[in-house]
Amino acid sequence: MALQLSFSSHSCLHANVIAGCNGSKPSSSKFVMALTLPSSKARGVENRIRWKQMTPEKLELFKSLEGWAEENVLTFLKPVEESWQPQDLLPDAASPDEEFLARITEIRERAAGIPDEYYVCLVGNMITEEALPTYQTVFNTFDGIADESGMSPSPWARWTRSWSAEENRHGDLLNKYLYLSGRLDMRQIEKTIQYLIAAGMNIGTDNNPYCGLIYTSFQERATFISHGNTARHAKGHGDLALAKICGLIAADEKRHEFAYTKVVEKLFEVDPDTTMLALADMMRRKIAMPAAFMFDGLDRELFPHYSAVAQNVGIYTTKDYADNVEFFVKRWDVGNITSGLSSKGREAQEYVCGLADRFRKMDERKKKKNNSSTIVPFSWIFNRKIVV
Ligand SMILES: [Fe+2]
Ligand SMILES: [Fe+2]
Repeated sequence: MALQLSFSSHSCLHANVIAGCNGSKPSSSKFVMALTLPSSKARGVENRIRWKQMTPEKLELFKSLEGWAEENVLTFLKPVEESWQPQDLLPDAASPDEEFLARITEIRERAAGIPDEYYVCLVGNMITEEALPTYQTVFNTFDGIADESGMSPSPWARWTRSWSAEENRHGDLLNKYLYLSGRLDMRQIEKTIQYLIAAGMNIGTDNNPYCGLIYTSFQERATFISHGNTARHAKGHGDLALAKICGLIAADEKRHEFAYTKVVEKLFEVDPDTTMLALADMMRRKIAMPAAFMFDGLDRELFPHYSAVAQNVGIYTTKDYADNVEFFVKRWDVGNITSGLSSKGREAQEYVCGLADRFRKMDERKKKKNNSSTIVPFSWIFNRKIVV
């Protein structure tokens, strides 16, 4: 059943992200920059769509695409036997003691030279990956492509299960490697993961698969960029093993991005109007980050703080977001769709095509305004302090 998504549910998310889970007022403004959403008026949220339950015709459309998905989407999955596993990148605990301990010593020696800021970004990425149960749950709220039984043979459901199985290796690998580094308060990190999965998330897609598939396209590309940047930084700090780990994960994310992007491309082909409206709707609300409700039991503003560090270090920035909007508008050839659009669809098209520039200008204005240097402790690194 579809929910009636209203602006209030999103503004609630926005308020919580900015103010912290308990609604407390943030003490500084700079850390808000990395993910602050513009005002509802500026975002055009007052115009946003209240998606209704999918009609039988729309459900039939997704059913009719099953053969296409079988041949064009499932092919992006890698067979288990050809996939890397976390153990391929980690010390083998079954090896002789000296060998095992020597590998761990190497990891710890390499880790010693890496700055705290980088570790905070890496931990944030790892925690985001570890909240995987939430993403699979949310995916299965999308009408027409949900896994109805938990073991449905439909290609959509098989994709979701196999995609989750691929994703599951990301959190596993990062978690184990970071544990071995000896640099982190793992108990605080584990608490953050438990809080985050318990919190869940509402990306405001109203069970609408058009919105859901657009959201996942953006998220996969965002994680590709983020893991790619952590790989680059690891290399810069001399940890080639960590660079390889982040690079392998980034490559998976890229493959996932290709798959979701291809589905949305197909939706533009078979149902341009609804797809255009869904894209504009997701853009008006901005793509909410999946780990926005992270909490470690101490810092009510943990996500904005982490997000600000990621912005400062250059792991994932507001410019990346604007670039992604531009990338997808080009990838789906949004500006050149001429047939099958209603007047509202054409309005949506115009709005979406001008967005990347608007985001960039907004980013520039914020950069000029925000030059404070708040310092906050992160429990993940034993309360050592970082500028946000
Ligand atoms: Fe992932
Ligand atoms: Fe992914």
